[in-house]
Amino acid sequence: MPKPSSQIHRAWWKESSVYQIWPASFKDSNDDGIGDIPGIVSKLDYIKNLGVDIVWLCPSYKSPQVDMGYDISDYYSIAEEYGTVADVEKLIQGCHERGMKLLMDLVVNHTSDQHEWFKQSRRSKDNEYRNWYVWKPARYDEQGNRQPPNNWVSHFQGSAWQWDEHTQEYYLHLYATEQPDLNWEHPPVRQAVHEIVRFWLDKGADGFRMDVINFISKDQRFPDAPVQDPRTPWQWGDKYYANGPRLHEYLQGIGQILTEYDAFSVGEMPFVKDTNEVLRAVRFDRHEINMIFNFEHVDIDHGPYDKFEPGSWKLTDLKSFFETWQKFMYENDGWNALYWENHDQPRSIDRFTNAKEEYRTAAGKMLATVLALQSGTPFVYQGQELGMRNVPVDWDMSEYKDIDCLNHWHRLLAHKPDDTEAHKIARQEYQKKSRDNGRTPVQWSAAPNGGFTGPNVKPWMSVNPDFERVNAEAQVQDPQSTYHYWSSVLGLRKKYHDIFVYGDYELVDRANEEIFAYTRQYENHKALVLANWTEKTLEWDPAANGIQGVQDVVLNTYGSAASTQERFTGGGGQWSLRPYEAVVALVQA
Ligand code: NOJ
Repeated sequence: MPKPSSQIHRAWWKESSVYQIWPASFKDSNDDGIGDIPGIVSKLDYIKNLGVDIVWLCPSYKSPQVDMGYDISDYYSIAEEYGTVADVEKLIQGCHERGMKLLMDLVVNHTSDQHEWFKQSRRSKDNEYRNWYVWKPARYDEQGNRQPPNNWVSHFQGSAWQWDEHTQEYYLHLYATEQPDLNWEHPPVRQAVHEIVRFWLDKGADGFRMDVINFISKDQRFPDAPVQDPRTPWQWGDKYYANGPRLHEYLQGIGQILTEYDAFSVGEMPFVKDTNEVLRAVRFDRHEINMIFNFEHVDIDHGPYDKFEPGSWKLTDLKSFFETWQKFMYENDGWNALYWENHDQPRSIDRFTNAKEEYRTAAGKMLATVLALQSGTPFVYQGQELGMRNVPVDWDMSEYKDIDCLNHWHRLLAHKPDDTEAHKIARQEYQKKSRDNGRTPVQWSAAPNGGFTGPNVKPWMSVNPDFERVNAEAQVQDPQSTYHYWSSVLGLRKKYHDIFVYGDYELVDRANEEIFAYTRQYENHKALVLANWTEKTLEWDPAANGIQGVQDVVLNTYGSAASTQERFTGGGGQWSLRPYEAVVALVQA
């Protein structure tokens, strides 16, 4: 049921949409094979014309690039390959001139082991920076062998603890060995983070995406995690570090600064499924963060223990995930971030549909419609607006660059060197789920290297060979392209923002495994979003699903010709939906 409008809190960050840039693969301006900030500046009109309001720049700070910039060695400088702080200032200015905002990535659960704080910290037990990280003595087993302080697994394989010979203690790294976790219990760490936040806001940045922000408070007893996967000693310790005891206190510390600057914030929050716990961070009056990235829908195809094991899901699983979060946040004055893709995920057409190549465009448009018209702030990841797809099935392992995928592969080779069946399955799963899928360079044109870098340059990662057919230059010229469709969806969301930003959400035809349909309503204005999730033509009965009085078809993935209107408004019973067709109609409330 729609709420009275007096109970709705309006905000600019609710009405906005965001475009995410992963700098290494966006656009190379100096022919070194790596994307850079001047390259981004050169494409700002392309981004603006898509209809987004905010640009999120993934980490571009100085970094040894063990984890593509999520290992920061200096928060106040920019990686040489990407440019300079002056380039970021130009980027901020270029965004502002076009009426867009810029978000920086705030990565403060951990630093690089090359950060000066960690270099000091590992020097001696009495160094003034020792407490900036999480150091613990070893445990010893019954045979007297040295063991890590607990059994937590690292997100990038193996134990989450690394032994330091020099000071004879372990340090915690929830990610790579080269990404030691900061100790947020120690007040100078929090102070240092606040200074970083202010530095970039003072430079004109308009807010932050916050990396694994729900991991910053750990249970200080550092207990062993329950054994879920009996095949390995290393277990997920999320129970003790995801949304830990002091998280909200820490978030309020940052939130105070963000409120002072009226800044945007979105926090990445893996593992958390408890809606009330998320609400404590995002409810309108909490002043912690505006919204979070949820993971349930992108974990939907993971195996029982591991993302690189085969998994399966049904459309009703996806619908039920969205229904829970949509209704809960609407009813409780919270807010959602909406995304299918980012730099950690495969391409959405491949993950969420079975679309054959001939339905690539139809499926990409359908996914755009279903996502961006829900309640929340939509995020578009570079290349998603072009309908870019996963890496080719026949790519060799040497094409894969991501630490997450490669660590998995090397571990498998070490533990099961002769198990060719296990190797084959893993290879299939990498092509489906590796982060590399979202990291191939943006396909700008049909020129060599897809116009990402110079024709004779070897890009740091190969361009998907389909760039000759699928590229930005062609799509900008084609009014029927995925690019222009995204701009129509985002434009529609703005035009009818009472409905699509501030309206309620009701799932329609819940049990249907082939159709995703929902309504949005604000006062007596109501819209239906209806999508065929299959490659078949499907019949759908609006009246049987409580939909009456279609007033106007405002968007259709197959074009908005008058004949399309008639198909839905002409009266009569069933509607016939073409493969992956999505339609948006204003209907009687
Ligand atoms: C989440 C980031 O999105 C991912 O790319 C990174 O590897 C980890 N956090 C660690 O920072």
